[in-house]
Amino acid sequence: MAIKNIIIAVTIFVFMSCTQQQSGFTPGEIWKDDKGVHINAHGGGVLFHNNVYYWYGEHKIEGKAGNKAEVGVHCYSSTNLTDWKDEGIALEVIKNDTLHDITAGCVLERPKVIYNAKTDKFVMWFHLELKGQGYKAARSGVAISDKATGPYTFVKSFRPNAGMWPINVQDLHKAPIAPEVKNEYCGGKGCLPAHPDSINLLGRDFEGGQMARDQNLFVDDDGKAYHIYSSEENSTLHISQLSDDFLSESGNFIRIFSERYMEAPALFKRNGMYYLIASDCTGWAPNAARSAWAPNIFGPWTELDNPCVGEEAELTFRSQSTYVIPVQGKKDAFIYMGDRWMPENAIDGRYIWLPIEFEEDKPIIKWMEKWDMSVFDE
Ligand code: DGJ
Repeated sequence: MAIKNIIIAVTIFVFMSCTQQQSGFTPGEIWKDDKGVHINAHGGGVLFHNNVYYWYGEHKIEGKAGNKAEVGVHCYSSTNLTDWKDEGIALEVIKNDTLHDITAGCVLERPKVIYNAKTDKFVMWFHLELKGQGYKAARSGVAISDKATGPYTFVKSFRPNAGMWPINVQDLHKAPIAPEVKNEYCGGKGCLPAHPDSINLLGRDFEGGQMARDQNLFVDDDGKAYHIYSSEENSTLHISQLSDDFLSESGNFIRIFSERYMEAPALFKRNGMYYLIASDCTGWAPNAARSAWAPNIFGPWTELDNPCVGEEAELTFRSQSTYVIPVQGKKDAFIYMGDRWMPENAIDGRYIWLPIEFEEDKPIIKWMEKWDMSVFDE
């Protein structure tokens, strides 16, 4: 009898802890889904559609170091941004074709999904590195689905804007390319011999398409969508308008913050101004966040300060940006969404979500141990 009672009590305890509702955000702690499992959606982004939020991110593997995609993109849904239902794998990597662009073992990072009202399709973009090639491919991948939760079908991968010059191209970019510039560089800060323009990386990649690594999507009020990506060996950001079906680039793009080596870009809009939150380029190690604003998405962009203030602000509270969530139904309510990477055991990566405040219209992010949506009512 006693054993039976203990079993019942343990069962109730396990059930309660698995189904417990989150009452708010506790950045950096384990964040359980509806099944009681730590959410597995790293480098993610959030789509709001028909009153539901969908969180998409990289599915990481238990006990594995490194960053190889063995499963795909995980999706969760929520109506309050704190309690998340596991919706399973939205985009699966391909297990039976080693030559496929998204074959298991490729690098598939920072997936983002937007909804196209004209085609009634959900479109996913991600950063793709082909299996066995390190970070050399620097491609964008595109997948499509009829449903927010998927399954998504892979469409293509490519380097953006092949054969197109940006709006702010300079004459120097159209000059012939010196043979030594055809070199590959290591793809990080400190790798280039000089300013990217002095060796004309834009011109080097004109024909084959521009490098695209860390990336994000943004849909404007008029329904136009934009792709922002770290390009030119991560030295320069490009903002590129998508085609009407959101499946390709339109060819309309600009370069911004050349030689600032910005990664992890996230765009949002407030009171008609465009904002950018990004990071420096230091691999998996955290660094000081960047922020910027512009009256028009195609600039002019002005860099602002590190938006983080207080202890560990110079490390973005040990996180790196991945998205900014506009909270629905609340004015001026935006959430900074960041990853606290755990490169030795990637699945243990933590999520740092913090409210964004505005001082003189400039974004400010402060650390909070615990917070809830009422901060936006103050
Ligand atoms: C930093 C980037 O922001 C991540 O997405 C990832 O590409 C790592 N670098 C790889 O070192």
